[in-house]
Amino acid sequence: MKRVAVLISGGGSNLQSIIDAVESGYLDLEISVVISNKEEAFGLTRARNHGIPTAVVRHGDFDSREEFERALIQTLDSRSVDLVVLAGFMRVLTPLFVRHYHHRIMNIHPALLPSFPGIHGQEQAFDYGVRFTGCTTHFVDEGTDTGPIILQAVLPVLPDDTVQTLAARILKEEHRIYPESLRLWSEGRLRIEGRKVVILPGKPGTGD
Ligand code: GRF
Repeated sequence: MKRVAVLISGGGSNLQSIIDAVESGYLDLEISVVISNKEEAFGLTRARNHGIPTAVVRHGDFDSREEFERALIQTLDSRSVDLVVLAGFMRVLTPLFVRHYHHRIMNIHPALLPSFPGIHGQEQAFDYGVRFTGCTTHFVDEGTDTGPIILQAVLPVLPDDTVQTLAARILKEEHRIYPESLRLWSEGRLRIEGRKVVILPGKPGTGD
């Protein structure tokens, strides 16, 4: 069974959607560890509630981003993880980390990339006045939210939306497409070809 690590910094609702997908049998993988750079992150409690090992690697304990990432790599490699899943992990990763896990880091972004990368994607889109926005799963490369796109969900911006109502609807879609992306990955159905991710067909008769 493939092994993933989930990196978080906060509430961990995406982590929860992945845990739920594993427990329901939708996802056939093991969450080997949940790592947070903040010890107060509620996502750690979610992991513990489900018996998943946790680790805290505080970025403030290190002199540089690279030192912090070396510690992260050590924790991850000691658990032989196949994929690093970023789920609200609020640290920019340097080429050191990204090269170490080349094509083995997945992220979710709350906007339709390549529009509105970086932080507060929902707010950026709302303030810009777009009619449609959504969320994107992608493999991580050395840029900020620039890696090959896996899945996207599109939502209309409604006339009476506020940033909060819009962000809540986007989050609901995140909870759908992150487990779906991980399922495709765990089934070996994602092939990266340059900028593009090709989704390979599922086994006949499985409805995929
Ligand atoms: C999500 O909106 C995700 O797209 C972004 O950070 C947020 C994390 O939320 N990268 P949660 O911690 O999973 O609830």
